[in-house]
Amino acid sequence: MLNGEKQIARPLRWGMVGGGRTGQVGYKHRTGALRDNTAYRLVAGAFDLDAERGRDFGTNLGIAEDRCYATYQELIAGEAERDDGVEVVSIATPNFTHFEITKACLEAGLHVICEKPLFFSVAECEEVAKIAEDKGLIVGVTYGFSGHPLVRQMAAMVEKGMLGEIRIVDMQYTHGFNSGDDVNAGEAVKWRTNPETAGPTFVLGDIGTHLHYLSEVVLPHLRIDKLLCDRKAFIPTREPLEDHATVLTHYDNGARGRLWVSSVNTGHMGSQRYRFVGSKASVEWSDAHPDQLMYEVQGEPPRTLHHGMPYLEEESLAIDRMGALHTEGLGDSWANIYLWIAQAIDAKRRGDEAFLKTHHYPGIAAGTEGVRWLENCVRSADAGATWVDYQ
Ligand code: NAI
Repeated sequence: MLNGEKQIARPLRWGMVGGGRTGQVGYKHRTGALRDNTAYRLVAGAFDLDAERGRDFGTNLGIAEDRCYATYQELIAGEAERDDGVEVVSIATPNFTHFEITKACLEAGLHVICEKPLFFSVAECEEVAKIAEDKGLIVGVTYGFSGHPLVRQMAAMVEKGMLGEIRIVDMQYTHGFNSGDDVNAGEAVKWRTNPETAGPTFVLGDIGTHLHYLSEVVLPHLRIDKLLCDRKAFIPTREPLEDHATVLTHYDNGARGRLWVSSVNTGHMGSQRYRFVGSKASVEWSDAHPDQLMYEVQGEPPRTLHHGMPYLEEESLAIDRMGALHTEGLGDSWANIYLWIAQAIDAKRRGDEAFLKTHHYPGIAAGTEGVRWLENCVRSADAGATWVDYQ
């Protein structure tokens, strides 16, 4: 079990772009990064499009006023002049800004932790991957719940053959927050429903990429052969983007997948649900009850496994933070993701490529795969919801 003890030589000097007072996701980043006092120190930021509000916010977080910058360009330039300048920057801004800010940070020699969906195209991902590789820098991506101990438990059970051959992958991430029209919508909805600021998708990128990455963590041996995506905007002003989509998947081992993402699932608050069905047993996990994992063996009474209990696999217990009996949730999962990225940055700095080969964290490959999946979904949907070979 983790106790927040030192895992890298010293905390990383960390800055943020976006994630200011009105931002939805910024606090999750700080919750993740600052959970272990030993992993990151927040020392600078360009938190907000509104420079004055961003400065006020930053100083309220305890950051020196001269390190609360008006723009990300000023942050990069200002920090480069300091001996104790930032080493890693998190980007918690709307999708259309990710590519330009990530590139600028990498070119200035800074590691990056960027929000999903990473960029608009695989070509952009590949360009950034090359810059990061050439500069010896890490790019991390924040797929929120993928660091939860029961997600690792599912992965360990699959790896140890406890489920048998995987047959069915059933995933859902839905809510009803966009069931009405956008006439009085706030900024976060406005940019999400405009292709120029959101990219080629709305809910597929906004929430579907979480499902796709988590399935990769649990089923790393499966590859998608083909998929069929049907997408629709129930609120027509959101077209050509979708507020609802269904994806059917054929995997290379013969398994079948069904995925549902929607922000018009009126009244629903369940959020994410994953069910992996094998020839011997099934597991099911949902963020509505993140402490519990359903484990069902045909012909036996169903079991509810609890996080932190000694009967779980070592891979799960090793990353548990709260211990059994006490709720382990999204913040703990983010803390694991941030810690894994810090360990990757630390290894990169030390030139420890052997560590990086086996170290598990959502990096540029995971971000690229998310964008590749979106490209395939859009290709299928825009061809009239037809099967397409996965490219
Ligand atoms: P938001 O619209 O609520 O907040 C965006 C923030 O970025 C605001 O503080 C805004 O002032 C600031 N900002 C915008 N452009 C900026 C710039 N050029 N420089 C500095 N600051 C700038 O957006 P939200 O919902 O927080 O989403 C941000 C990103 O996080 C998106 O890519 C979204 O997909 C992702 N996201 C990820 C989640 C996860 O679980 N990993 C959850 C929610 C959002």
